[in-house]
Amino acid sequence: MLDRRRFGYNNWTPLLILATGLAFFTGCDDSVEPVPEAEPTRTALVALYEATNGYAWSQQDNWLTDAPLGLWYGVEVDHSGRVIGLDLTRNGLNGSIPAELANLTELENLLLGNNRLSGAIPPQLGELGALVTLDLRTNRLSGAIPHELGDLTSLGYLDLYQNRLTGPIPESLGRLSALSHLNLTWNKLTGPIPESLGRLSALSHLNLGWNELTGPLPPRLGDLSNLAVLFLGYNDLTGPIPVELGRLANLIELTLEGNRLTGPIPAEFGNLDSLKTLNLTYNDLTSPIPAALGNLSGLDNLWLSGNRLTGPIPAALGNLTGLEALGLSDNRLSGPIPAEIGNLANLKGLVLGDNELTGPIPVALGGLDQLLSLGLEGNNLIGLIPGELGNLGSLRYLNLGNNNLTGPIPILLGRLGSLWTLDLRDNNLTGTISAIGGLPGLRWLRLQNNRLTGSIPAGFGNFWRMEHLQLSGNELTGAIPPELGGLRVVDSVNLSDNYLTGPIPASLGQLGSIAVLDLSGNDLSGPLPEEMGALATLRRLDLRRNPGLSAEVPGRWTDLRLRTLLAGETGVCAPDEPEMMLWLESITTRRVRTCQGLAAYLVQAVQSRRFPVPLVAGEDALLRVFPTALRTTDVGLPAVRASFYLDGTETHVVDIPGQSTRIPTTIDEGSLLKSANAEIPGELVQPGLEMVIEIDPEGTLDPDLGVARRIPENGRLSIRAEVMPPLDFMFLPFLWSEDPDSAILEVVQEMADGPTSHDLLAPTRALLPVAEVTAEVHEPVWTSSNEVGKLYQETEAIRNHGAG
Ligand SMILES: *[C@@H]1O[C@H](CO)[C@@H](O)[C@H](O)[C@H]1NC(C)=O
Ligand SMILES: *[C@@H]1O[C@H](CO)[C@@H](O)[C@H](O)[C@H]1NC(C)=O
Ligand SMILES: *[C@@H]1O[C@H](CO)[C@@H](O)[C@H](O)[C@H]1NC(C)=O
Ligand SMILES: *[C@@H]1O[C@H](CO)[C@@H](O)[C@H](O)[C@H]1NC(C)=O
Ligand SMILES: *[C@@H]1O[C@H](CO)[C@@H](O)[C@H](O)[C@H]1NC(C)=O
Ligand SMILES: *[C@@H]1O[C@H](CO)[C@@H](O)[C@H](O)[C@H]1NC(C)=O
Ligand SMILES: *[C@@H]1O[C@H](CO)[C@@H](O)[C@H](O)[C@H]1NC(C)=O
Ligand SMILES: *[C@@H]1O[C@H](CO)[C@@H](O)[C@H](O)[C@H]1NC(C)=O
Ligand SMILES: *[C@@H]1O[C@H](CO)[C@@H](O)[C@H](O)[C@H]1NC(C)=O
Repeated sequence: MLDRRRFGYNNWTPLLILATGLAFFTGCDDSVEPVPEAEPTRTALVALYEATNGYAWSQQDNWLTDAPLGLWYGVEVDHSGRVIGLDLTRNGLNGSIPAELANLTELENLLLGNNRLSGAIPPQLGELGALVTLDLRTNRLSGAIPHELGDLTSLGYLDLYQNRLTGPIPESLGRLSALSHLNLTWNKLTGPIPESLGRLSALSHLNLGWNELTGPLPPRLGDLSNLAVLFLGYNDLTGPIPVELGRLANLIELTLEGNRLTGPIPAEFGNLDSLKTLNLTYNDLTSPIPAALGNLSGLDNLWLSGNRLTGPIPAALGNLTGLEALGLSDNRLSGPIPAEIGNLANLKGLVLGDNELTGPIPVALGGLDQLLSLGLEGNNLIGLIPGELGNLGSLRYLNLGNNNLTGPIPILLGRLGSLWTLDLRDNNLTGTISAIGGLPGLRWLRLQNNRLTGSIPAGFGNFWRMEHLQLSGNELTGAIPPELGGLRVVDSVNLSDNYLTGPIPASLGQLGSIAVLDLSGNDLSGPLPEEMGALATLRRLDLRRNPGLSAEVPGRWTDLRLRTLLAGETGVCAPDEPEMMLWLESITTRRVRTCQGLAAYLVQAVQSRRFPVPLVAGEDALLRVFPTALRTTDVGLPAVRASFYLDGTETHVVDIPGQSTRIPTTIDEGSLLKSANAEIPGELVQPGLEMVIEIDPEGTLDPDLGVARRIPENGRLSIRAEVMPPLDFMFLPFLWSEDPDSAILEVVQEMADGPTSHDLLAPTRALLPVAEVTAEVHEPVWTSSNEVGKLYQETEAIRNHGAG
């Protein structure tokens, strides 16, 4: 393999030599004198080329040619031609670092970062006594850090960031007395931080984050008097924070987040006069926050979230007027929020959530007009939401959820025009939500579990960026505004557990991105809009506990790709049709009855359980109720009571007595004897009709028979009845000129005189869903043909003429 590769570039290397040779000898740059290079140097470079797939490097100008090494891409030579620098950063190197590099004895800078170097770091690199910079960051180097690197006495900069190095940090690195930058972040180093690192008196940057280092922080790190950045985040360090760190007078950034450090924050940190960032989040720190932190006048970021800090928030923090972020969330802080926090005029983020803070929200927070993010959720705050928060004109994120706030949502919050997230959930807020309608930029709105009243403002339909709308668990009334169909990018809408009434608006079929729609626990009624069948992204639909919703699942819903469909405690049912049943099967979690269980319908002519054609308003209908038993029985069909409602008012009750025919075990529509039947007068059959069937109202049957007692189980069954326009007949008698039969003229006249009673029209009236019928007679038409096709053509001609 290797031989073939070598052979490969031996073939084209002469070409390169030719080309570059020309450039070199004709370009005659006098200042570059060809110096006879030490052979090991060239060999070392060739070894690197070969070991790292040189022919695939991004840049390789002059490599392997006879050109002086100083002209090879990335190679730097001194005035006597000795290689002192090699910078092949981000050059597509793929392979391992060859030990031969150790022969570049004068090398001062070795930069091989951002490549695909793998394998171990050769210990021989420790022989590069002149090395000042060793940068191998962002590769795939593995194995341990060779302790020989501790011999690099000139080294100022060691960057092994983002590799796969394992094992401990060698104690020997403590001998690198010239080292100013040590970056070992993002490896898999284990073991403790060597005490010896405390001897690196020149060190300004110590980055050991994102490893698996254990053990305590060596107090000697406090001797690093030149340290500006100490980043030890995301390791497994334990024990207390040494008070000695408080001596790091030049420290600008201190990040210890994501360890398991315990004990208090040293009050000595109040001496870190240069500190700008202090990040101690996600440890196990305890005790109160030292008031001395209020002395860090240069601080711009203070993050102490995710610990077990107790006691009050020191009012002294109000002296940190340069502070841009104050994060104290997820601790056990108690007491009120000091009004002094309102002095932090540069604050962009104030994150105090998930503590045990009490008292009201200080009005002074309304003065923090740079604030982008305000999180006070998960405390025990009481009282009103200060209207002054409406002055926070830049605010993107406001979370006051999970407190004990009372009173209304201040109208002034309606001025927070930049807000993306508003979370006021789980409080005790009252009043309406109308103030919020004026915040069209909102993406997340969570108001659930309060005591909010009134209706959902139509203005909510303007939330064109809304992703999550959560209004559940309030006391909202009125209808769901059809305008909500305007939430074009909404992902979830939860209106559950309110007192919403009326139908589900058909416009919800326009929620083109919705995945979750929860309308459960309301008083919604009426049919299910078939338009919702267009919701291609909907996965979860919850309609439970809406007793007034009683309708069939529309056929178009079989286009939905739901994972969850819940319709328990409603009158909703899915028609027992093959396509519908197949679709239901595809829904992992479903709670929908099939309409078979309903077993009661009104029929005029063509309606049946399978084909729920609307009824024709004003026409008599036959009620059929099909009680069935779970097992065969000799018991006869029970008595049935049917109550009819129009627009919510009971209009009619029929009682059908019991019969001797045995209760069947399956529904048999083919025999009138197998159902309880009653004629329902046409005037009852109107749009808005609903019915309730009580089977065996006196309760005489053995419950074990499992005969359904009520249809529907809850609420009332909506019956679709439609007002049909009159059916107008025009009778056109033809007389065949060859053999005219004028008796037809009499027949059509009879039909026109009594269109509702004439025998010839009876089937039309019975089989078509028609109501009123009118008729008139056209003059007889003389025709030369007796063929139906011809007569049809002539009829068309007359019709068009009449219409034209
Ligand atoms: C790097 O080298 C390995 C092994 O030789 C090879 O499998 C891989 O494809 C190379 N990667 C690139 C990006 O050339
Ligand atoms: C350095 O070069 C010498 C010969 O020039 C060679 O013997 C030796 O193996 C090289 N060293 C390394 C570490 O490759
Ligand atoms: C060192 O590591 C940090 C992360 O800890 C990284 O952000 C930074 O860029 C690195 N610094 C240098 C000089 O490579
Ligand atoms: C912090 O400053 C106050 C004065 O504001 C001073 O009394 C106190 O000693 C300082 N604390 C520390 C730890 O430096
Ligand atoms: C400090 O911690 C917070 C919260 O974990 C984080 O968002 C922030 O980026 C951290 N800051 C630094 C400088 O690491
Ligand atoms: C805050 O600063 C003021 C002066 O600016 C000082 O009087 C006060 O002591 C400081 N508070 C704390 C707790 O350090
Ligand atoms: C909320 O406050 C009311 C009185 O203001 C109090 O009765 C109730 O216990 C508080 N609830 C919680 C969960 O703190
Ligand atoms: C809301 O207020 C009532 C009465 O003031 C109280 O009983 C209840 O605990 C409060 N709820 C919450 C979540 O604080
Ligand atoms: C809707 O909100 C209620 C109450 O807040 C909650 O119990 C329910 O899980 C939510 N529904 C969905 C689908 O998240």
